[in-house]
Amino acid sequence: MKRIGILTGGGDAPGLNAVIRAAVKTAHGVYDCTVFGVRDGFDGLLEDEGVFELTTEHVRGILPRGGTILGTANRGNPFARKTVVAGEETVVDVSDLVAARIRELGWDALIVVGGDGTLRISDELYHKGCPVVGVPKTIDNDLHGTEVTFGFDTALNTATDALDRLHTTAEAHHRVMVLELMGRDSGFIALHAGVAGGADVILIPEIPFSFDKVCEKIQERAGYGRHFSIVAVSEGAHPIGGDQVFSRAGDEVFVARLGGIGQVVGKFIAQVCGMETRVTVLGHLQRGGTPTAFDRWLASRYGAAAVRLAANGGLGRMVALRGAEIVDIPIAEAVSSPKRVDLEGDGVLTARGLGICLGD
Ligand code: F6P
Repeated sequence: MKRIGILTGGGDAPGLNAVIRAAVKTAHGVYDCTVFGVRDGFDGLLEDEGVFELTTEHVRGILPRGGTILGTANRGNPFARKTVVAGEETVVDVSDLVAARIRELGWDALIVVGGDGTLRISDELYHKGCPVVGVPKTIDNDLHGTEVTFGFDTALNTATDALDRLHTTAEAHHRVMVLELMGRDSGFIALHAGVAGGADVILIPEIPFSFDKVCEKIQERAGYGRHFSIVAVSEGAHPIGGDQVFSRAGDEVFVARLGGIGQVVGKFIAQVCGMETRVTVLGHLQRGGTPTAFDRWLASRYGAAAVRLAANGGLGRMVALRGAEIVDIPIAEAVSSPKRVDLEGDGVLTARGLGICLGD
């Protein structure tokens, strides 16, 4: 193995820089291999200045830094790229250009660090003959085949810290505090943070909720003197028979943006329970900041393992965590179906056992 490339795609997640650093150090130190960085996801492969040699100097001091030194883009799908042709905006498939550029660069492997969207693109490029190796990233933890993606632990800690902070002010003012959390169609962040942060109600996309059940729980607490409650709501949660709430519609290029269910739930609680209610949307704070030690450790292991996988010819495969071990699986398996909270699993059973209302 002489030359490899690395890119980060989709929404950022804390730990991306730790992956890049581990990949560069392992490639240089163990394989004496040159590493090239691609700027802004797949977009960089279409630009003259989009590829550069990654040196030890580039990765010095980046381990605790959030974001990605390579930049990223969550609309950079080469199979559906928005371009202006003859003054008109149109969507074109430039995947052949991307595949040709990768061939021309003469890389033995391209390490792609991404979530479901980016890895799906990678798998399609692999089937076009590109030497792709995947690394699973996302704060949502919604990728199959790996127990956990890096970035999730940091988001979880940020969300739990927010719940702790909301607790003190909720209690002081006898209020209901609603916290809307990210996660798209998976409720892992809300469920895990809700349990860790002592929420009274947790609403996740996997369990359509009843407004009445939520209010019953809040009123039951008030009935025994707890005149405050904490509600953790996944952005993708929705009422029984009702739709998810979006802040922006999707199209061929952009996925629809979830957001707003917290306000809907807060309004209902204020009106029906008659309690003063405030809503906080934690938003991109969950994606920013320094990665936790766990995420640095996991991301470093993933980065080093991706280089070993590339050296062993594991193209079209992705590194993954199974038990305590780093293994590798086909990228196709990871993106075959999205991972969701197991309704019979111990996370949900734990929440129910603790008396937390899940809205059903
Ligand atoms: O997939 C990660 C994620 O943060 C989701 O939890 C969230 O729905 C989405 O990305 C937000 O995307 P954007 O950064 O485009 O607003």
